[in-house]
Order: sequence, then structure tokens, then C-alpha cells
Amino acid sequence: MSLRLLTLSNGRKMPQLGLGTWKSKPDEVGNAVKSAIDIGYRHFDTAYAYFNEKEIGDALKEVLSDGKVKREELFIVTKLLYLSPESVRKNFMESYKKLQLDYIDLYLIHTPIPLQADETGGLKKDETGAYVTDDIDYLDTYKEMEKLVDDGLVKSIGVSNFNHKQLERILGVAKHKPVTNQIEVHPYFTRTKLINWCLERNIITTCYSPFASLDRPWAKDDDPNLLKDQVVKSIASKHNKTPAQVLLRFCIDLGCAVIPKSVNPGRMKENFEIFNFKLTPEEVTSIQSLNRNWMMSVDAFWHPARNHPFYPFNEF
Ligand SMILES: NC(=O)c1ccc[n+]([C@@H]2O[C@H](COP(=O)([O-])OP(=O)(O)OC[C@H]3O[C@@H](n4cnc5c(N)ncnc54)[C@H](OP(=O)(O)O)[C@@H]3O)[C@@H](O)[C@H]2O)c1
Repeated sequence: MSLRLLTLSNGRKMPQLGLGTWKSKPDEVGNAVKSAIDIGYRHFDTAYAYFNEKEIGDALKEVLSDGKVKREELFIVTKLLYLSPESVRKNFMESYKKLQLDYIDLYLIHTPIPLQADETGGLKKDETGAYVTDDIDYLDTYKEMEKLVDDGLVKSIGVSNFNHKQLERILGVAKHKPVTNQIEVHPYFTRTKLINWCLERNIITTCYSPFASLDRPWAKDDDPNLLKDQVVKSIASKHNKTPAQVLLRFCIDLGCAVIPKSVNPGRMKENFEIFNFKLTPEEVTSIQSLNRNWMMSVDAFWHPARNHPFYPFNEF
């Protein structure tokens, strides 16, 4: 089974399925990347904030020097966490060195909310445990990221966790348009309006947490579990597929890219086997009707920043 490629607005190609790496531990992510390469994955979603770029870079270096893949077959994504325009290049170079590649395929602004770093490079928290924000405008950050494209260090740039108004502002000034907006998408948080708004402007949505992040650190026992949803399960049994495969195919059939995380070769293979079936339009609609605007990360991560002017979730 081979990967399907999406064409970005700048003409470059991005594999529609990628491997997520948030929460993949440094001592397991290297093997995960190497297994993923053997299975056929070529798109890897990484971030400064995942604190495992070095180990991912080591694994990529190994598969490249073994000749298992060529650099141009890979699509490597990383993300800028701290938005200060003066330190965009310095922050980028940190990720770039850890990933050990000659260029990065896609560099994203991780969040429109400017967050502050603590002395270890982690997110600074106040005495209540909430992340400390700043007052930087992501437009200034974006302009610095464009220079990385001009210099050939990055092939494409984009954003993550932006709403349509924030994207509109970027489109108003961009020399290099954002090729993607990476956002949480799954049947309980379908984001239909934003996905369609982006499609009309040739911005591909990359769906993160397609299983609503089963291993999110703040999961509670009584949280909904998409893999057990009756509608998802019944569609899966009609296609002789697993609920996980239906959740991924849902994103694919919306014309989006999707980046499930796994460190388990069996599950990575299962997640890869989604290009030999298709959901009917009725099935897509019935999955969309499950929407309940349930964000897996709202309370733990985003809520403390809800008063920031760039909090992205008050708009679609
Ligand atoms: N831009 C952002 O702000 C942002 C935010 C969140 C996530 N992301 C990106 O999106 C990626 C995916 O999202 P996520 O990590 O939140 O969660 P996810 O992909 O929705 O779920 C990952 C969980 O599902 C399990 N899993 C994977 N395949 C499975 C299968 N076939 N059947 C059953 N369980 C399965 C994984 O366990 P095993 O590993 O044990 O298989 C893990 O516990 C991230 O890793 C990251 O790269 C980006």
C-alpha cells in the first residue's frame, strides 16, 4: 500500500499520512521512526516542544545513511514554540541541528499564543501552574520565518492551532503563504467550518490527535473514547476495518493530512492501511454529526490562556 501525496499551495508535495511524535519517549522514538520507515511512512511530525528531536534526527540519519530512503522522499515537520521575532532563527537552528538534516520541509508556528520559556527551555508557569504568556504578534514571527524559506533552510511554512481570523491576518501579509494549519480534528471536534474555509483558500488542514490523543497526560477515566463509539464501530465493521482506521480515513476523506502518533509497530502498520477503502459521503456526514466540540486539550493546556487576545478557540 503506498502513501498518497497532497500538493501544497507552493507546489510541493506532502504525504497525506504522517507519524505523530508528541509523547514518544526519547528512548523509544528512534525505533518508532525506523519501524515507520520500514512500513512506508515518509512524513514525520516533530516539534521543539516534544523534546525528542535529537533522537528522531539520529534515526533519520541512520535510515538515510543506510540508503533505506532518500532525503527527498522524506517530509519532516517541526514547530516553533517561542514566538519572539528576534529569536526565530536561533530557535529554528536548535531544531535544525537536532534533526540533522540539510533542510526542513515544513516549519510551523506551534500556537498563536506567545508563551514564555523558563530557564530550562521549558514552558514557564506561574504560581497557579498556568503558562505565562507574552504580548508578541505572530505576524512579526511569521515574517522572520519567511526569511528561513528565502535562505533555503525551510521549504514551506505554516501554522498550528490558528483560527480563520488569525489565518486571514497572515494571508494579508504573507509572501510565502501558510501551506497548512495543523489543528485537532476527530469526530467529537470536527472543525468543519475551519477545514472548509481553509480548503477554499488552498490551505491544507493537518489533523492532529485523530484518536483524541488516547495517551494525553490529563486523560480521565470517564472521558469519551472514540475507539468505542458505536457509530465509528459500526462503520468500521461494514468496511472490515478497525475503528482507528475509520478515524484516520475520516480525515483523509475530508481532504486533510493526518498524523496519528504510535510507537507500536503493529499499530503503526494498522494506521498505515487506510488507502484501500473509502468512506461514503453518508458515512462522513454521520461521523460529522457526532461533533460535540470536545477538545482533548482544552482544560489542561489552553484554558489558562483563554484571556489572551490570541486565544484561538473563541472563533472557528
Ligand atoms: N500542533 C499541536 O499543537 C499538536 C497537538 C497535539 C498533537 N499534535 C501532533 O499530532 C500527533 C498525534 O496526536 P496525539 O499524539 O495527541 O494523539 P493520537 O494520535 O490521537 O493518539 C495517540 C494514542 O493512540 C494510540 N494509538 C495509536 N494507534 C492506535 C491504534 N491503531 N489503535 C489503538 N490505539 C492507537 C497510541 O498508543 P501507542 O503509541 O502505544 O500505539 C497513543 O496512546 C502528535 O503526536 C503530534 O505529532 C500536534
